[in-house]
Amino acid sequence: MQSFPQLVFSGVQPTGNLHLGNYLGAITKFVALQETHECIYCVVDLHAITVAQKPAELTSNIREVTAAFIAAGIDPKKHVVFNQSQVAEHAELAWIFNCVARMGWLNRMTQFKEKAGKDRENASVGLYAYPTLMAADILLYRATHVPVGEDQKQHLELARDIAQKFNNDFLADNPEFADGKTFFPLPEPLIQGPATRVMSLRDGSKKMSKSDPSDNSRINLADDADTIAQKIRKAKTDPDALPSAIEGLAGRPEADNLVGIYAALTGGTKADVLAQFGSGNFSTFKSALVDLTVEKLAPIGVEMRRLQADHAYIDGVLRDGANRARERAAATMMQVRDIVGFIR
Ligand code: TYM
Repeated sequence: MQSFPQLVFSGVQPTGNLHLGNYLGAITKFVALQETHECIYCVVDLHAITVAQKPAELTSNIREVTAAFIAAGIDPKKHVVFNQSQVAEHAELAWIFNCVARMGWLNRMTQFKEKAGKDRENASVGLYAYPTLMAADILLYRATHVPVGEDQKQHLELARDIAQKFNNDFLADNPEFADGKTFFPLPEPLIQGPATRVMSLRDGSKKMSKSDPSDNSRINLADDADTIAQKIRKAKTDPDALPSAIEGLAGRPEADNLVGIYAALTGGTKADVLAQFGSGNFSTFKSALVDLTVEKLAPIGVEMRRLQADHAYIDGVLRDGANRARERAAATMMQVRDIVGFIR
């Protein structure tokens, strides 16, 4: 297999209510990867409009995600932080991928089925084609590694299928790729650790989500210390003590979720948490979780609100990031246009 230079790409939708799941499943990974990789992090506003958005709220949510990235520790000078709509090549490559991906592939996407619900006829065409735009985001930079939560796994598999089919369809008769060289890498999902799927605090069988009507189901990055503490104290649990081994968490989704959150916030494993709190009173563990979550998240919330209010700074970061992203995107698209056979 041909090796490509390692490059990390990931995106977050500016759809409001950024929460602990986004933070643990994605943003903390973004921060860690900066030390070892070149990284591009995108506020995917084109994805956000696949469902209706109020323009003023969208603008504010784009700034919210950007501020969250920076408050969490992403360095926009060393790495690239930008919003997708400022780099037109995302939409252009997505169109080409719409002609590569098959209806049958998209028909299998579970996220579309969940989001469109029963009224599929009324879903936007953009919502259906959402995964081809996501593939374009990643492949526009020929990124090799994509940190995401568990819920994006199927989309990443589709991105790999699209890359593979593009390579197969277009490179076979191209003398420049005669020696079996490929153009797009097959991007690898990075889905690791104890919090790849953080669950609702009210119902351990449901994912923590921006769109849950109950605000108590999630901890928002913008929540203040009191709100965070209150939500964890109210979080659903069962009457039993914590087990001392992982197997004891089976069939106890709420306990499992809180243990996973604690583990992720300390950078440890669920086994470490159970070694510390196992067999003890659940309330002792919950108090420790309240303290830990407040200690880790509250300062990020404060910094995020401060940055978010500084429009000139945030918009400047995005513009600068877009300029750098566009340069790379334009280089890829020149080659893609040649490969496809367009005249330029
Ligand atoms: P989005 O905006 O829904 O979520 C952003 C990131 O947060 C992760 N996540 C979670 N992780 C753990 N537990 C949860 N409850 C939880 N909820 C969300 C998501 O998996 C994601 O990593 N399609 C993407 C955005 C996107 C993208 C891309 C990602 C667009 N283009 C290219 C990677 C590469 C999405 O909707 O994420």
